[in-house]
Amino acid sequence: MKHQARRLLMVASACALTATAVAQEPALDAFSGLKMTGDWELVRNNCISCHSPKLITQQRGSKNHWLKLIRWMQEKQNLWQFDPDTESRITTYLADNYPPQEDRRRAAIPPDLMPPNPYAPPTTPAD
Ligand code: HEC
Repeated sequence: MKHQARRLLMVASACALTATAVAQEPALDAFSGLKMTGDWELVRNNCISCHSPKLITQQRGSKNHWLKLIRWMQEKQNLWQFDPDTESRITTYLADNYPPQEDRRRAAIPPDLMPPNPYAPPTTPAD
């Protein structure tokens, strides 16, 4: 009996911990999947008309990384210009909510473990 009560207590506190952890994450917008916090509506209004919001929510980066992406889209993809305040609020939201992550890519494979490159130029001149 005593054992069962302790186990119940452990389960209850585990649930409480999980609930707290979940409560701290901002809710996701049902339409865009963006985290509904800070200037998320600016991002929704400016960033999801050309492509899926998933391109944004699966991306991670610093403010500078996000700014570079914006510059690339402005140069190559017809993205409009932002006034500096709007741009800074957008990149702040993005860097705060989709920040760089260490573990998103595996380490590069050492060259000696790579298969031969079929597209490499021939090492001996063809005859
Ligand atoms: C005028 C159209 C347009 C708007 C508005 C736009 N983008 Fe893009 N974006 C593009 C195009 C085109 C691509 C390339 C899509 C592809 O590769 O399929 C792209 C790609 C991306 C990518 C993927 C880049 C990669 O690594 O491949 C991200 C992230 C992104 N956009 C974020 C944003 C953010 C943040 C905003 C708002 C500031 C935004 N986009 C607004 C046109 C736009």
